[in-house]
Amino acid sequence: MYKTILGIETSCDETAAAVLQKDGDSIKVLSNIVASSSELQSTFGGVIPEQAAREQLKAIIPVIETAIKDSGLMIKDINAIAVTYGPGLIGSLLTGVETAKTLALTWQKPLIPVNHLIGHFYANWIYSPSAISSQSSAISEKADSRKLTTESIPTFPIIGLLVSGGHTDLVLFTDHNKYEYLGGTRDDAAGECFDKCARLLGLPYPGGPQISKLAKLGDASKVKLPKPMLDSGDFDFSFSGLKTAVNNYINKNKEYDKADLAAALERTIVEVLVAKTMAAVEKYGVNQVMVAGGVAANSALSEGLRRNLHVRVFSPSHNIFCTDNAAMIAAAAFFSKEIVDSLKLQANPNLSL
Ligand code: KG4
Ligand code: ZN
Repeated sequence: MYKTILGIETSCDETAAAVLQKDGDSIKVLSNIVASSSELQSTFGGVIPEQAAREQLKAIIPVIETAIKDSGLMIKDINAIAVTYGPGLIGSLLTGVETAKTLALTWQKPLIPVNHLIGHFYANWIYSPSAISSQSSAISEKADSRKLTTESIPTFPIIGLLVSGGHTDLVLFTDHNKYEYLGGTRDDAAGECFDKCARLLGLPYPGGPQISKLAKLGDASKVKLPKPMLDSGDFDFSFSGLKTAVNNYINKNKEYDKADLAAALERTIVEVLVAKTMAAVEKYGVNQVMVAGGVAANSALSEGLRRNLHVRVFSPSHNIFCTDNAAMIAAAAFFSKEIVDSLKLQANPNLSL
């Protein structure tokens, strides 16, 4: 078991590095740097893969240097390097993986490969009460430790709901590194649906937070939308029809109220996510749920889950740990048994759960 891990994450448009330390029962975030090109991406309404990778190439070394400097530690104090090796955009993944391999080799540190999707769930093992500084393209945050007690962190068994821009997955975890995939989206992810519908509404990327903000001003009952696969009897999702329904609604109702439509969309997505998660809770007889991924930052989703009082709901302590970050990758690495030869690790854009 390592005491101090440097995490590196570059699977989509973020370039992130973080130093975390395990101190007895606590996981402490010593530094957490996220440089995002999302402002640039918002000009184009989404991520342009080559452009994301170009920005990451420029940012990766300064981001890692800042993470180490902010941690107050020296390179010799870092015991291992953890890196996201998939899934994601190939150019983006390569930037992180090849950098991590080179550093592991030259600094003589073990290299721990982390599946980005599993990493998202481990955001629930980190605690951060306050952001200490924020720059235009990089957010730096120092966090306190979270005591690893049954009070504050997940225990097993637990149902995990991963809702991000690229994924919507339900997973049953029975222990660290032991899980069963229950179901997932057959087409668009929940975050992708938020993003695509936001675009139809003329809102900038990323659309989830925009829809959520607008939804607070609207009346969801004024717009009827289909609830995709609500009664399908399995743990699969489908969100692409919802985007079509929103498009049709906009075309049919020229004078439509944007806030009402945003509220109806958010309510529909949340209702489907909550219903399927609770069905998994009942089927597998567990009493804990953890949410992860960018959409876990959605307050309507956590409120919807928390309405089920017999279930304990965990969500990352801060929104910065919901969206892509390297602290979650380092956190996952503390519990991983996988160490690879630093010359052999390959980025895998299609890695699954
Ligand atoms: O996990 P993430 O940073 O990237 C992926 O790995 O995909 O998730 C990004 C997604 C975007 O689709 C964004 O619109 C969504 O998370 N998102 C939200 C909220 N904040 C971010 N969706 C709904 N409500 C939010 N508050
Ligand atoms: Zn992600």
